[in-house]
Amino acid sequence: MTDLSSNERRVLTALADRDVATAEELGEATGMGRGPVEGAANLLRDRGLVEIAETRETDHYLTDEGETYAREGLPERRLHDYLEENDDVSMDELREVDGFEVGVGHLRRKGWAELGDTVEPLGAPEGTDERALEALAEGREFKEMDALEHLRERGLVERETHRQVEIRLNEAGRATAEDLDGDDDVVGEIDHDLLASDAWRDAEYAEYNVEADAEPRHGGRVHVLRQLADRVKEVLVSMGFEEMEGPHVDSEFYINDCLFMPQDHPARTHWDKFLTEEPTHVDGLPDDLVEAVEKVHREGAEGGEGYHSEWSRDVARRLNLRGHTTSLSVRYLSRNPEPPQRYFSVDKVYRNDTLDPTHLLEFYQIEGWVMDRGLSVRDLMGTFVEFYSRFGIEDIEFKPHYNPYTEPSFELFGRHPGTDELIEIGNSGMFRREVLEPHGVDDDVEVMAWGLALERLLMLIYGFEDIRDVHGTLCDLELLREVPVLWR
Ligand code: PHE
Repeated sequence: MTDLSSNERRVLTALADRDVATAEELGEATGMGRGPVEGAANLLRDRGLVEIAETRETDHYLTDEGETYAREGLPERRLHDYLEENDDVSMDELREVDGFEVGVGHLRRKGWAELGDTVEPLGAPEGTDERALEALAEGREFKEMDALEHLRERGLVERETHRQVEIRLNEAGRATAEDLDGDDDVVGEIDHDLLASDAWRDAEYAEYNVEADAEPRHGGRVHVLRQLADRVKEVLVSMGFEEMEGPHVDSEFYINDCLFMPQDHPARTHWDKFLTEEPTHVDGLPDDLVEAVEKVHREGAEGGEGYHSEWSRDVARRLNLRGHTTSLSVRYLSRNPEPPQRYFSVDKVYRNDTLDPTHLLEFYQIEGWVMDRGLSVRDLMGTFVEFYSRFGIEDIEFKPHYNPYTEPSFELFGRHPGTDELIEIGNSGMFRREVLEPHGVDDDVEVMAWGLALERLLMLIYGFEDIRDVHGTLCDLELLREVPVLWR
């Protein structure tokens, strides 16, 4: 039985002398203390060497006030004694007797006196409360719980419950203890002294109990949102898309102007953007493209009128944190690719929103666009149906919408599995000619595009109701540790 730990050996050896003992007694006998003894006893029980019986005992003892009354009598008893010894006692006279304040109520309730012009004593047999006081004061057992409870309510008695653990050696345990023969000296932990003293050569070592329950250790794991982002990328790649990359801090030119957002339009502040402090502006925007974009703003593109409003290059040069990743789509369009093309990104965007269960200042957008001849809204919707079905979501809904840069435009909604509410999960549309023309896209080529919220997809899949549980400063670590891994 070398796989007994040294604590188990010590408990078993101590138990061999007495067969049965409480954890408290063994804690003292071994010097281990009660807690470790109970731990070792549990292991010994699992090995079938001891039996453990747990009992709860309730002790009652007198408070200081209880002790005083045990010595001097309850105040109502003292008042009664006074009435017996004196005739025609008035209330005022009784009030002078020690213990009046506390005792008079009990005197009346117990029916020990008649209260009139004078206070006359009646019969006052000894009650269970007095016998309980007496018994506790003398250290005798008292079993009438009602009386004890009553005294406890009067503040004369206190109660304490003890957990007793009784450990009993069984036959197998006795045999094992005899085998040990007092040899409880097993090394459980190797320390410096052992190694330095050479004693390690002959020492007997405890074996590991690999079946024992162990404390959970939380190592690192991939955050659930990152898991989903990776999965989204895989799905889009499998659908034939290529990934885009680009700056988080970008010029208004790519964030807004290229998307035919007029510079004086409320939509330019509608992102509630974050501006940079240093540097504030970018130099070296591509001249040709800037001119083409300005022209579209002023005069319009095929079939449109333009805005005929102010347009300034300085506004276009202003830097801010991107409020959408459509800036990346524009950057990739500006490379003048030949159709067909499919691009995506899953990346962070920044908006100065008000924090609530569905809004953070930063979130991830699943951006994408497809360029081809003869594309229509059916292709756009079909792409979403396909994409969301890869995540088990089969009931997305579309709502007509407005964006300055797409026509027609659609918002996407999905049903939250927990609350059953429709939540907005994305925005999309067909890019207008005003967006495409500056890049020299042919008239018969269409581009469909979208921005979907990764966090909202997460909420639909996992049923999370508050995005702040999942990321941000208030996130729920326990939730993140325990959320199941769905992919890979
Ligand atoms: N930029 C839009 C948003 O952030 C999404 C979008 C992208 C809409 C491309 C249409 C086309 O809501």
